[in-house]
Parts: sequence; C-alpha cells; structure tokens
Amino acid sequence: MKVLVILSHPNLESSIANKTIIENLKKANLEIALEVRHLESLYPDYIIDVKSEQNALLNADFIIFQHPFYWYSTPAILKKYLDEVLIWGFAFGVGGDKLKGKQFLQSITLGGSKESYTPLGYNRFRLKDFLKPMEQTVYHTQMIYNPPLYSYRNAYEPNILNSMSEVKENAVAHAEKIIAKIQDFTKGNKVKVEAFIHKWFTHFDKLDENGYFIQYLHKKVEFTFPGYGNMIGHGEFNKWYQSIIEKLEAPTKHEVKNLIIEERERNEFDIRFQVQFQAKEKESQKEINVVESENWKLIWDENSDRPLIEKYIVTV
Ligand SMILES: Cc1cc2nc3c(=O)[nH]c(=O)nc-3n(C[C@H](O)[C@H](O)[C@H](O)COP(=O)(O)O)c2cc1C
Repeated sequence: MKVLVILSHPNLESSIANKTIIENLKKANLEIALEVRHLESLYPDYIIDVKSEQNALLNADFIIFQHPFYWYSTPAILKKYLDEVLIWGFAFGVGGDKLKGKQFLQSITLGGSKESYTPLGYNRFRLKDFLKPMEQTVYHTQMIYNPPLYSYRNAYEPNILNSMSEVKENAVAHAEKIIAKIQDFTKGNKVKVEAFIHKWFTHFDKLDENGYFIQYLHKKVEFTFPGYGNMIGHGEFNKWYQSIIEKLEAPTKHEVKNLIIEERERNEFDIRFQVQFQAKEKESQKEINVVESENWKLIWDENSDRPLIEKYIVTV
C-alpha cells in the first residue's frame, strides 16, 4: 500500500499552508509508504520526466494532488503534468487503463473565504464548479474520485490578511483530514465485508424477500447448497430460495463462526467460515441443526460502496 503525493507549489520556501500540510503528513506515523514529489523542485526548468512520473503513479495505490488554488485551478506545472503524464495509452484510450482503480484525492488550499465562493461572493461560483474539470479527468482515467479536501482563508499578508498562526492552525487541521482519509483507506473494506456477512444472515434468519439477497449477488453468481448441487445466476437462486421459504418456518437461526476474510487483491475477498444453522421444517416439524462450511468469493465495489458475491459454496 503506497501513497503518492504530487505536490505543486512554485515557491515552497515562502509557503505556509502547503509547507505545513506536507510537514505534518511526513511526521504522522502512517505506517505506510509515503512518497512526496514536489514538482517544482524536481523540475525547476519545468521539463517533466514523463516516464519517472508515470512509474511513480503505477507504484501508487492512493494518489493525492496537493496544491494551492491558483486562478481557480492548479499551479502551472501541475497543469503541464496533467497534459504530459496522463496521456493516451497510459491514462486513457487504447491500453490506457494504468490508473484504473487507484484512489484519487485533490487537496487544495484557498485564499478565498467560504462566502466568496457563493453566487453573491466575489468568486461568484461554487468551489465544486471550479473543480469539475479535475473530477472529470479522474473519471476519464478510471481512478476512484474521493470528495476533494480544501480549506479557506490561507492567504497570508502581514497585517492585511489573516495571521500566520491562523493559517498554520488551518493547515494542521487540513493535514489531519488527509491523514484520516489515508487511514480510512488503509483499513480498507474488510470491516465492511464482515459487517455485511452478519447483516446477510440476519436477513436470512427472517427469511426476507428474495430481492434483498439478489441485490448483492453477481448476475452470474455460482452457488452450491447441500442437496441442491451447482447452480448459476439470479434465476436459479430465486428458485432455490423459493423452495427454502416454502419448506422452513421463519425465523431460522444462522450463527457465524471461525470467520476468515482474506483480501486476495484489492477489494477481492476470499471468505471462509462455519455456520451453525438451526431451523424447523413447516410440514414435518422436523428440527434442523447442522454446522455448514461456507466458501465465498466477494468483490467490494468502491463506486457503489457495496459488496457483490461471485461464488457462494455451502457444504456440510
Ligand atoms: C498566482 C496566485 C493565484 C491565486 N488564485 C487564487 C484563486 O483563484 N482562488 C483563491 O481562493 N486563492 C487564490 N490564491 C491564493 C492562494 O491559494 C493562497 O495564497 C494559498 O493557498 C496559500 O497557500 P501557501 O501558504 O502554501 O502558499 C492565489 C494565489 C496566487 C499566488
């Protein structure tokens, strides 16, 4: 897991906000690889080494653009970086899927106040309107767009605009937001997968409508249940589930034990566990009490923030 910060500031020496943000990021104990590439230091003549920049992007899981807002956009070299590094065959077009699935975050410091970015303020438009080109760039390059982080009132003009300590405090709070975002990401979706499995069985216990389950099943889900053999797809799941509803009294009881969730690839999970399954058959009033082994393959879809089960194997 690697975080890449593309920092653009033409005069970092005199920066307060961006310099403080980067210092705080570096000293936070993130327990992950963090690379900060300050474009203007790497390329004082503005001649960008495209291959090195593309390699840095390829190695990263989480890409952050950190910069001050300049003329409602990025500093010049960051725009040049977009034009030269995110090119056809790399970031879009034929073979251009190298950034697909990477997390992206734009993190901006602004001189203006919140009120200035309203229809009656001097900046006239909302900040999110100015940020649309970047949002679309991220979409077009198939990265995952995180809502941007920004902070207002960072311009410092002694005795005219803000105090040094205000801008610094602002920047420390801004860095904390970035750190929280990175930490959220490193925790990943494992916790959500676990919560989902428990929720799934709560609905199973109620013998809920089949629609509840179908929304989380891949269209071509492969599944096997004891006594039913191998089945594929929503139609066969519906048939199986109908037979279960007809056969069993609600509620049933599923107790999940020995849950092991392994993230094979980012957001692709192999899941193994046992279920103590207790139920009563409607007609015969026969009690069922078995321990079943389950093997699932599940994908966590970042865009919808929901799981999708691809394989669902149950054996006794
Ligand atoms: C060339 C230039 C253009 C700027 N354009 C904007 C702007 O469009 N909107 C805004 O809110 N602030 C603007 N500012 C203010 C900067 O965003 C602000 O000074 C900066 O975020 C402070 O960060 P720093 O201490 O790291 O330099 C501009 C500043 C400069 C120098």
